[in-house]
Amino acid sequence: MKKTIITGLAVAAVGMLALTACSSGAEGGSGAASDGGSGGDLITVGFAQTGSESGWRSANTESMKTAFSTDNGFDLIFNAADNDAAAQIAAVRSFINQGVDAIVIAPIVEDGWDDVLQEAADAGIPVILEDRTVSASEDLYSTWVGLDFQLEGQKAGEWAAETFTGPTNMVVLEGTTGSAPANDRATGFDEAIAGSSITKIDSQTGDFTRDGGKTVMEGFLQKYGVDGIDLVYAHNDDMALGAIEAIEAAGAVPGEDIKIISIDAVHDGMQALADGKINYIVECNPLLGDKAAALVKAVLNGESVDKRTIVEDQAFDQDAAIAALPDRKY
Ligand code: AHR
Repeated sequence: MKKTIITGLAVAAVGMLALTACSSGAEGGSGAASDGGSGGDLITVGFAQTGSESGWRSANTESMKTAFSTDNGFDLIFNAADNDAAAQIAAVRSFINQGVDAIVIAPIVEDGWDDVLQEAADAGIPVILEDRTVSASEDLYSTWVGLDFQLEGQKAGEWAAETFTGPTNMVVLEGTTGSAPANDRATGFDEAIAGSSITKIDSQTGDFTRDGGKTVMEGFLQKYGVDGIDLVYAHNDDMALGAIEAIEAAGAVPGEDIKIISIDAVHDGMQALADGKINYIVECNPLLGDKAAALVKAVLNGESVDKRTIVEDQAFDQDAAIAALPDRKY
């Protein structure tokens, strides 16, 4: 996860880009004139979403669409790239060609963004990252709002290290290869279980999907048998839910014969935790829309914004899930 703090100079540069972007949006034929968010005409925003791989993603998309509504002063051009990194970059290029006022990206993977972000900067269009981060220079985007994925992995790993004190064989269901949450959740977890009695016997990507989690878990069960696996660490709830299906199909009891830790705390995951099929969940809050919309307006108004806005996550065991479920918003 990137940790550099923006300099005052870079903030000023972003403000200048933003002001340029307002006129470029008006002239770029996007169908919506812009006044930079100070009232009147709509602000045209292109949002490049990852896809629709998980319950978390659905909640995030809904949060973004609600926040970037016409009532809130936005004309949103939405694109979901079906987890195809090249298609997502093409969508961002299309936003640049349309002359939008601002671009919001939930980057599928961390690498490969330098060229298109430079093109957006050259066109005077500010870029706001939401959810995931990129490895490109921070000078190429205005700000980022999201979660501390490494801390999420660390919290999951700390719970595992405290809970499993005898020899424990663990398999990992990784998120999308090259994505910030897959990279950082692995790092945070691995650091937290270092020196513990947990052994990672296998690790493969399930691409953050339920089907992916089920297929990979079926392979693990075939390879190691039910008795050869004590613990599953899933980088998100959907893959954990797929693993539950695979474990049950193999005649074992998820949450008892094979314990499960996951990340997200979406409704279906929390229900599985309440039912005892998952043993621990670290939250990843998808409700980032209002914060992203406020940042877009601030950037377009030339205001100074923090380079990073981190939304805090909680963690849940079975009792906490039962208590939280009635008021859960996603
Ligand atoms: O980037 C956040 C991750 O993306 C969520 O944990 C996962 O469910 C989603 O696909």
